[in-house]
Amino acid sequence: MKLKIFNGREIKIKELSRKDLRNVRKFRDFINSLIDENAQILMNKRFSLSEERKWLEEQLRKIKNRKTVFLAAEYNNTVIGTTGIDLLIGRQSHIGNFGITIRKDYRRISLGSYLLDKIIKLAKKVLKPQPKIIRLNVFSTNKPAIKLYKKYGFKIVAKIPKQIEFKGKLVNQLIMLREL
Ligand SMILES: CC(C)(COP(=O)(O)OP(=O)(O)OC[C@H]1O[C@@H](n2cnc3c(N)ncnc32)[C@H](O)[C@@H]1OP(=O)(O)O)[C@@H](O)C(=O)NCCC(=O)NCCS
Repeated sequence: MKLKIFNGREIKIKELSRKDLRNVRKFRDFINSLIDENAQILMNKRFSLSEERKWLEEQLRKIKNRKTVFLAAEYNNTVIGTTGIDLLIGRQSHIGNFGITIRKDYRRISLGSYLLDKIIKLAKKVLKPQPKIIRLNVFSTNKPAIKLYKKYGFKIVAKIPKQIEFKGKLVNQLIMLREL
Protein backbone atom coordinates (compact mmCIF):
# COMPACT_ATOMS: atom_id res chain seq x y z
CA MET A 1 0.00 0.00 0.00
CA LYS A 2 1.23 3.45 -0.89
CA LEU A 3 0.04 6.92 0.09
CA LYS A 4 0.19 9.61 -2.58
CA ILE A 5 -0.96 13.20 -2.54
CA PHE A 6 -3.24 14.34 -5.37
CA ASN A 7 -4.60 17.87 -5.20
CA GLY A 8 -3.85 18.02 -1.47
CA ARG A 9 -5.68 14.77 -0.74
CA GLU A 10 -3.85 11.75 0.62
CA ILE A 11 -4.93 8.84 -1.55
CA LYS A 12 -4.19 5.17 -0.83
CA ILE A 13 -2.99 3.09 -3.76
CA LYS A 14 -3.04 -0.66 -3.26
CA GLU A 15 -2.97 -3.94 -5.10
CA LEU A 16 -6.18 -5.93 -4.90
CA SER A 17 -5.87 -8.66 -2.26
CA ARG A 18 -8.04 -11.26 -0.53
CA LYS A 19 -8.64 -8.70 2.26
CA ASP A 20 -10.77 -6.81 -0.26
CA LEU A 21 -13.37 -9.55 -0.08
CA ARG A 22 -14.38 -7.62 3.06
CA ASN A 23 -14.77 -4.52 0.86
CA VAL A 24 -17.16 -5.86 -1.77
CA ARG A 25 -19.64 -3.08 -1.05
CA LYS A 26 -17.02 -0.36 -1.61
CA PHE A 27 -16.05 -1.80 -4.99
CA ARG A 28 -19.70 -2.35 -5.91
CA ASP A 29 -20.54 1.27 -5.05
CA PHE A 30 -17.61 2.46 -7.15
CA ILE A 31 -18.63 0.63 -10.33
CA ASN A 32 -22.26 1.58 -9.79
CA SER A 33 -21.28 5.26 -9.53
CA LEU A 34 -19.86 5.00 -13.07
CA ILE A 35 -22.93 3.21 -14.35
CA ASP A 36 -25.19 5.83 -12.74
CA GLU A 37 -23.31 8.67 -14.46
CA ASN A 38 -23.57 6.83 -17.80
CA ALA A 39 -19.77 6.82 -18.20
CA GLN A 40 -18.23 5.65 -21.48
CA ILE A 41 -17.59 2.09 -20.30
CA LEU A 42 -19.06 -1.14 -21.67
CA MET A 43 -21.04 -2.11 -18.59
CA ASN A 44 -24.45 -0.49 -18.31
CA LYS A 45 -26.24 -2.43 -15.56
CA ARG A 46 -25.76 -1.87 -11.85
CA PHE A 47 -23.97 -4.64 -9.99
CA SER A 48 -25.47 -6.50 -7.03
CA LEU A 49 -23.24 -7.39 -4.09
CA SER A 50 -23.13 -11.05 -5.12
CA GLU A 51 -22.17 -10.19 -8.71
CA GLU A 52 -19.43 -7.89 -7.47
CA ARG A 53 -18.13 -10.55 -5.06
CA LYS A 54 -17.99 -13.07 -7.93
CA TRP A 55 -16.12 -10.57 -10.09
CA LEU A 56 -13.60 -9.79 -7.34
CA GLU A 57 -13.05 -13.50 -6.67
CA GLU A 58 -12.36 -14.05 -10.36
CA GLN A 59 -9.83 -11.18 -10.37
CA LEU A 60 -8.14 -12.64 -7.27
CA ARG A 61 -7.90 -16.06 -8.92
CA LYS A 62 -6.23 -14.51 -11.99
CA ILE A 63 -3.94 -12.37 -9.81
CA LYS A 64 -2.78 -15.50 -7.96
CA ASN A 65 -2.00 -17.13 -11.32
CA ARG A 66 -0.09 -14.01 -12.45
CA LYS A 67 -2.52 -13.44 -15.32
CA THR A 68 -3.92 -10.17 -13.97
CA VAL A 69 -2.65 -7.14 -12.08
CA PHE A 70 -5.10 -4.77 -10.45
CA LEU A 71 -4.72 -1.53 -8.48
CA ALA A 72 -7.33 0.39 -6.51
CA ALA A 73 -7.19 3.98 -5.24
CA GLU A 74 -9.07 4.87 -2.06
CA TYR A 75 -9.88 8.11 -0.29
CA ASN A 76 -11.98 8.46 2.86
CA ASN A 77 -12.80 4.76 2.82
CA THR A 78 -14.24 5.12 -0.70
CA VAL A 79 -12.89 3.50 -3.86
CA ILE A 80 -12.14 6.37 -6.26
CA GLY A 81 -10.27 4.58 -9.03
CA THR A 82 -9.30 1.20 -10.37
CA THR A 83 -7.06 -0.08 -13.13
CA GLY A 84 -6.11 -3.52 -14.34
CA ILE A 85 -4.22 -5.43 -16.99
CA ASP A 86 -5.36 -8.94 -17.96
CA LEU A 87 -3.26 -11.23 -20.09
CA LEU A 88 -5.06 -12.70 -23.08
CA ILE A 89 -4.78 -16.46 -23.67
CA GLY A 90 -3.16 -18.94 -26.06
CA ARG A 91 -1.44 -17.32 -29.03
CA GLN A 92 -2.30 -13.91 -27.64
CA SER A 93 -0.61 -14.47 -24.25
CA HIS A 94 1.88 -11.73 -25.06
CA ILE A 95 -0.93 -9.14 -24.95
CA GLY A 96 -2.23 -7.44 -21.82
CA ASN A 97 -5.67 -5.90 -21.96
CA PHE A 98 -5.81 -2.60 -20.07
CA GLY A 99 -8.70 -0.84 -18.33
CA ILE A 100 -9.04 2.22 -16.09
CA THR A 101 -11.84 4.12 -14.35
CA ILE A 102 -11.71 7.12 -12.02
CA ARG A 103 -14.67 8.30 -9.94
CA LYS A 104 -16.23 11.50 -11.28
CA ASP A 105 -15.18 13.89 -8.51
CA TYR A 106 -11.56 12.73 -8.65
CA ARG A 107 -10.77 13.26 -12.33
CA ARG A 108 -8.27 15.77 -13.73
CA ILE A 109 -5.95 15.52 -10.71
CA SER A 110 -3.46 13.18 -12.47
CA LEU A 111 -4.69 10.07 -10.68
CA GLY A 112 -5.46 8.35 -14.00
CA SER A 113 -1.98 9.13 -15.31
CA TYR A 114 -0.41 7.81 -12.13
CA LEU A 115 -2.40 4.58 -12.13
CA LEU A 116 -1.75 3.99 -15.85
CA ASP A 117 1.98 4.29 -15.36
CA LYS A 118 1.99 2.13 -12.21
CA ILE A 119 -0.14 -0.67 -13.62
CA ILE A 120 2.08 -1.02 -16.69
CA LYS A 121 5.18 -1.22 -14.48
CA LEU A 122 3.46 -3.78 -12.26
CA ALA A 123 2.36 -5.83 -15.28
CA LYS A 124 5.94 -5.95 -16.58
CA LYS A 125 7.18 -7.08 -13.17
CA VAL A 126 4.53 -9.61 -12.23
CA LEU A 127 2.69 -11.09 -15.19
CA LYS A 128 3.79 -14.43 -16.63
CA PRO A 129 4.57 -14.32 -19.48
CA GLN A 130 5.71 -10.69 -19.44
CA PRO A 131 3.43 -8.78 -21.83
CA LYS A 132 4.95 -7.34 -24.99
CA ILE A 133 1.94 -5.28 -25.99
CA ILE A 134 -0.71 -3.43 -23.98
CA ARG A 135 -4.02 -3.19 -25.75
CA LEU A 136 -7.19 -1.29 -24.97
CA ASN A 137 -10.61 -0.57 -26.38
CA VAL A 138 -12.18 2.85 -26.13
CA PHE A 139 -15.31 4.58 -27.44
CA SER A 140 -14.32 6.92 -30.29
CA THR A 141 -16.33 9.60 -28.44
CA ASN A 142 -14.27 9.32 -25.23
CA LYS A 143 -11.98 12.30 -25.79
CA PRO A 144 -10.49 12.49 -22.24
CA ALA A 145 -9.50 8.81 -22.31
CA ILE A 146 -8.06 8.95 -25.86
CA LYS A 147 -6.02 12.01 -24.91
CA LEU A 148 -4.68 10.28 -21.81
CA TYR A 149 -3.76 7.13 -23.75
CA LYS A 150 -1.99 9.06 -26.52
CA LYS A 151 -0.03 10.97 -23.90
CA TYR A 152 1.22 7.63 -22.58
CA GLY A 153 2.30 6.25 -25.94
CA PHE A 154 -0.76 4.34 -27.11
CA LYS A 155 -1.51 4.48 -30.82
CA ILE A 156 -4.85 4.01 -32.54
CA VAL A 157 -4.50 0.92 -34.76
CA ALA A 158 -8.10 0.18 -35.67
CA LYS A 159 -11.55 1.67 -35.75
CA ILE A 160 -14.44 -0.77 -35.68
CA PRO A 161 -17.66 0.91 -36.72
CA LYS A 162 -20.88 0.89 -34.70
CA GLN A 163 -19.74 -1.39 -31.87
CA ILE A 164 -21.34 0.35 -28.90
CA GLU A 165 -24.84 1.58 -28.24
CA PHE A 166 -24.43 4.81 -26.29
CA LYS A 167 -27.04 7.51 -25.70
CA GLY A 168 -29.23 6.20 -28.52
CA LYS A 169 -26.44 6.08 -31.11
CA LEU A 170 -24.10 3.40 -32.46
CA VAL A 171 -20.61 4.56 -31.60
CA ASN A 172 -17.32 3.37 -33.13
CA GLN A 173 -14.81 1.49 -31.03
CA LEU A 174 -11.09 2.25 -31.25
CA ILE A 175 -8.34 -0.26 -30.52
CA MET A 176 -5.14 1.27 -29.19
CA LEU A 177 -1.78 -0.43 -28.62
CA ARG A 178 1.38 0.37 -26.77
CA GLU A 179 4.44 -1.81 -27.35
CA LEU A 180 6.54 -2.38 -24.25
C1 LIG B 1 -10.32 8.78 -18.79
C2 LIG B 1 -9.99 8.90 -17.32
C3 LIG B 1 -9.48 7.56 -16.80
C4 LIG B 1 -8.89 9.98 -17.15
O1 LIG B 1 -8.48 9.98 -15.81
P1 LIG B 1 -7.98 11.30 -15.04
O2 LIG B 1 -7.52 10.87 -13.70
O3 LIG B 1 -9.03 12.34 -15.10
O4 LIG B 1 -6.77 11.74 -15.97
P2 LIG B 1 -5.57 12.71 -15.58
O5 LIG B 1 -5.99 13.72 -14.58
O6 LIG B 1 -4.38 11.90 -15.23
O7 LIG B 1 -5.34 13.42 -16.98
C5 LIG B 1 -4.33 13.00 -17.85
C6 LIG B 1 -4.48 13.61 -19.22
O8 LIG B 1 -5.63 13.05 -19.86
C7 LIG B 1 -6.26 14.08 -20.64
N1 LIG B 1 -7.61 14.33 -20.08
C8 LIG B 1 -8.15 13.79 -18.95
N2 LIG B 1 -9.41 14.24 -18.78
C9 LIG B 1 -9.64 15.11 -19.81
C10 LIG B 1 -10.77 15.90 -20.18
N3 LIG B 1 -11.90 15.89 -19.46
N4 LIG B 1 -10.67 16.62 -21.30
C11 LIG B 1 -9.54 16.64 -22.04
N5 LIG B 1 -8.44 15.92 -21.72
C12 LIG B 1 -8.49 15.16 -20.63
C13 LIG B 1 -5.39 15.29 -20.56
O9 LIG B 1 -4.43 15.21 -21.58
C14 LIG B 1 -4.73 15.09 -19.22
O10 LIG B 1 -3.50 15.72 -19.09
P3 LIG B 1 -3.45 17.26 -18.57
O11 LIG B 1 -4.25 17.27 -17.29
O12 LIG B 1 -2.00 17.50 -18.40
O13 LIG B 1 -4.10 18.06 -19.64
C15 LIG B 1 -11.25 9.40 -16.51
O14 LIG B 1 -11.76 10.52 -17.15
C16 LIG B 1 -12.35 8.36 -16.36
O15 LIG B 1 -12.25 7.43 -15.55
N6 LIG B 1 -13.44 8.51 -17.13
C17 LIG B 1 -14.62 7.67 -16.99
C18 LIG B 1 -14.37 6.21 -17.28
C19 LIG B 1 -13.65 6.04 -18.59
O16 LIG B 1 -13.97 6.67 -19.58
N7 LIG B 1 -12.67 5.15 -18.57
C20 LIG B 1 -11.90 4.84 -19.76
C21 LIG B 1 -12.62 3.82 -20.55
S1 LIG B 1 -11.71 3.34 -21.99
